[in-house]
Amino acid sequence: MILDEKKIMEAAARYCQPFNKGYCFMGSCSASLTLVEARFMCDFIVNNKLKNGIEIGTGTGISTMYLASVLDKLITVDNGAIALNLQHEYGWMRAAWNDMFREAGFENINMVQSIEEIDKRLKSVDFVFIDGDHTGLFPTNDCIAVQPHLTTKKTHYIFWHDTLNPNVMAGVDNAIKNLGYSGKLIELPEQDTYGLWVTWK
Ligand SMILES: C[S@@+](CC[C@H](N)C(=O)[O-])C[C@H]1O[C@@H](n2cnc3c(N)ncnc32)[C@H](O)[C@@H]1O
Repeated sequence: MILDEKKIMEAAARYCQPFNKGYCFMGSCSASLTLVEARFMCDFIVNNKLKNGIEIGTGTGISTMYLASVLDKLITVDNGAIALNLQHEYGWMRAAWNDMFREAGFENINMVQSIEEIDKRLKSVDFVFIDGDHTGLFPTNDCIAVQPHLTTKKTHYIFWHDTLNPNVMAGVDNAIKNLGYSGKLIELPEQDTYGLWVTWK
């Protein structure tokens, strides 16, 4: 699929309207990642010919659609904590996510509620985006939990969003010190990032 930002934003705008707070500002929507970050990751995926992804933290679904535009398959994980913040049931949220993805024409997105729900036989993931719960050990544990699904046949890459948050940065440090990853801060214009790291092995 070719990245079509207009299609993504139109679908997201329709979907975000019922929220009426949080992610919706005067009719336009924003993901938690910036467009500069989203475009950087999409270019990276294309340039490195990455195919199979896992995203932790669907959120607005905008990051999901960006990534799915350039991957063959994307599993997106969200336990629905955002639904409670926005005073919605998880079921409502899941239906809205699915409607939005279908409307935008994405058939390569598979939603699950936890990493444990991912098919145990899946061992070919070469791209991960960690953007779920940023508290405590969650970022560290998300990285550990996806390990069984990552390819060992070629290099795989894990992107970490919000590394200005010390808990997320602790997850990056753990990957480098204890899990054998190399790592690098992605340098983007300061006003256009919340901190984005990539680790790879
Ligand atoms: C920062 S938002 C994701 C933003 C999204 N990637 C974007 O750019 O629009 C974090 C998301 O993680 C979800 N979440 C929180 N705790 C989680 C957990 N333990 N497992 C999976 N998802 C979780 C929340 O429901 C929320 O939607």
